[in-house]
Order: sequence, then structure tokens, then C-alpha cells
Amino acid sequence: MAYLDPGDPVQLAAQVRAAFEERYDAPAAAVGRAPGRVNLMGEHTDYNAGLVLPVALPHTTHAAWRPTTDGRLRVASRQRESTWEGRVDDLGPDAVDGWAAYAAGVVWALREAGVEIPGCDLLVDSTVPVGAGLSSSAALECAVAVALAPDADRRLLAAACIRAETEIAGAPTGGMDQYVALLAEPGQALLIDFESDETTQVPLDLTGHTLLVTDTRVSHELTDGGYGSRRADCEEAARQLRVPTLRRASLATVEDLEDERVRRRARHVVTEISRVTAAVNALATSDWGAVGELFRRSHASMRDDFEISTPELDAAVVVAVEAGAVAARMTGGGFGGSTVAIVPDDRVEAVMRAVDATFVLEGFKPPAHLRAEPSAGASAG
Ligand code: GLA
Repeated sequence: MAYLDPGDPVQLAAQVRAAFEERYDAPAAAVGRAPGRVNLMGEHTDYNAGLVLPVALPHTTHAAWRPTTDGRLRVASRQRESTWEGRVDDLGPDAVDGWAAYAAGVVWALREAGVEIPGCDLLVDSTVPVGAGLSSSAALECAVAVALAPDADRRLLAAACIRAETEIAGAPTGGMDQYVALLAEPGQALLIDFESDETTQVPLDLTGHTLLVTDTRVSHELTDGGYGSRRADCEEAARQLRVPTLRRASLATVEDLEDERVRRRARHVVTEISRVTAAVNALATSDWGAVGELFRRSHASMRDDFEISTPELDAAVVVAVEAGAVAARMTGGGFGGSTVAIVPDDRVEAVMRAVDATFVLEGFKPPAHLRAEPSAGASAG
């Protein structure tokens, strides 16, 4: 069965350079690359000062660029017909629409942070599936950021990419995607604590198992209302509980919240944060029974308390476990997107076939599968 191909990094870099030269009639000065991500545990916890445990994917975005002196920014993509063009001095909130906002937003944010960019031609190319909940937008931002400022501190770049996403692209997201795209190391998951801003590399020993991601191909949008309204509910819960963030709330006090919806939202966040620590421990000892139970609870919490799952995500999770996965849950922002499963190597084919067959039976779009080999964070060359 076919997996979505991440492509060969050397070939991808050469291709983006060649396409750049063809598009702009001049060689690129540098190429940045940054990965998509899949999160193992901790959903909608980042903007609540909580914990997350993402892994970088082998699927990446490449960004080729050269500085110019004409004060203009041009953004082109090998995946899109249209090119965005405007004056760098005019960049700012509400200045750019659509996918180009993620790239143009980084140019704006880096300039805001004091990086000198008088003008810039950009061309991007990506193997990260778009709208699949696998952070294609952060991969784009971070590829542009490392291309333009390869020597800058990675946290400064993460901050610029987060500003691009929240202030220019208008997606009120939390920061997990940019951190892992910039800081991940091969073979490791990245434990991020959004209260202390600490990051810890967590070695992932998946011997005999495959990290299988299934894109349900129900496209998710973080700029429509669902994500923002969850975030607003969490802030309301923290306000009512008189804590700075839900990281500081206990399950007991959450259960006292009067509004039923706000209570369920807060319950998801508080229980999900505790599942991240538990998952780190269970993964460290390859306790697949415990990992499976944590994934099961996390999915149920997102389905019932946070209400961000879909019939396709629910079906993919149930069927994966029935067909032999030791653990499965939806991953990412929700309202579509992907599931992540840990599958014994000799059951992977069976799991993919079973999910595909169920999707046919249910009349869903055919899903796409990819292997999430824990990969490296961004680099430039
Ligand atoms: C999206 C956002 C992240 C995070 C996840 C949910 O991927 O970009 O910041 O909130 O959703 O965990």
C-alpha cells in the first residue's frame, strides 16, 4: 500500500533551487527547510500554558530566497498558480490574504524583530499535506524564517513565526507547531512546557512499531471560528477559576464550574495536560498497554468534552485499534485532519486496509497514510 512520500531532501533542495532560478531569472541565495509535525499527546494545551509532545515529520517545506533592493516582496509556490507581490514596507496585519500570508508574515515579523530585509524573492515547495492537521503552515513559516535568518536564535525565530501566524495570517494558535519545527531532533519527541518555556528531547524507542498517520482528508481551518471559540472558552474558565491559565487549575475546581460547556472544555485541558506526563513515562518504558489507554482517553476527551472530532476521525481511531494498533487518537487542532496510531510493524498493512475499507463503506473520501519517522527540525543551506 502507498504512503504519502516525504521526498528525498537533497533532491527537494535541488528542485526548489532550479524552480527559483526559472521563476526569478537569478540563483537563490539560500534554501531553508522545515518539517510538518504530528503531536503524540497534549492537544489544545499549548495556549493554556500546558504541555505538549510533538514529533517532527519527514515531510518538509523548502523555501528558496534571495535578497533584493527594490523594496518588494514576491512569494511564489511550486504548488500554487498565483504569486503574491507587494511592498515590504506595506506588510502588516490585514495586508496579505491566503497562503502567502504565512510567508509574508515571517518577513514582516523578522523585520519587526530588527532583521534587515530590504526586499525579497521567495519560492516554496512542500511535501507536507495541506489542511491535514500536520502543520503545513508552521513548516512554511519556519522554512522561510531559517532561510532568511539562518544564524538567529531558534526561539527568536519561533516567536517571529508565531507572530506571523497569529497577527498576519489571523490563526489564533498556540506555538507548539513552530517550536517543534525549529527545535526537533531525529529519533526524539519534543516535550514542551509552555509555562516555563522549557523544552526537553524525549528519545522515542518505537522498535517493532510504526508511527502511522492517517489523513482523513477532511480539511481543517484554524482561521474559522471553531479553534478560536475553544480558546475563548478556556480563557473564560481560567477567569472564573481565578487562575492565570488552566495550567494552574485542578480537576476538582474545574468540576465546580457552573457553565456545562465551559466545564467540559476546561476538563479536557486539565486532564490532557496530565496525560502528557503520563505518556512520556509510558513511552519511556514501552508500556504499550498504558500508552494505548492514554491515547484512548485523550481521543474520548477531544470527542466528548472538547468536541473537535469528526465521524471520519472517530472511525479511523476505532478501526485502527480493532485491526491491531496499540494506540490511536486524533491529533492536531481538530475539526478534520489526521489521526496518529502506534502500530506493530506486522499489523500496519492490515490497519491501513481496514481503515480504507471502512471509509469506502461509510462513503467518506479515501484517506491518505504516512509514516511519521521522528525527524529533524529546520535547517538551512
Ligand atoms: C493547532 C495549533 C497548535 C495547537 C494544536 C492543538 O495545530 O497550531 O498551536 O493548539 O492545534 O493542540
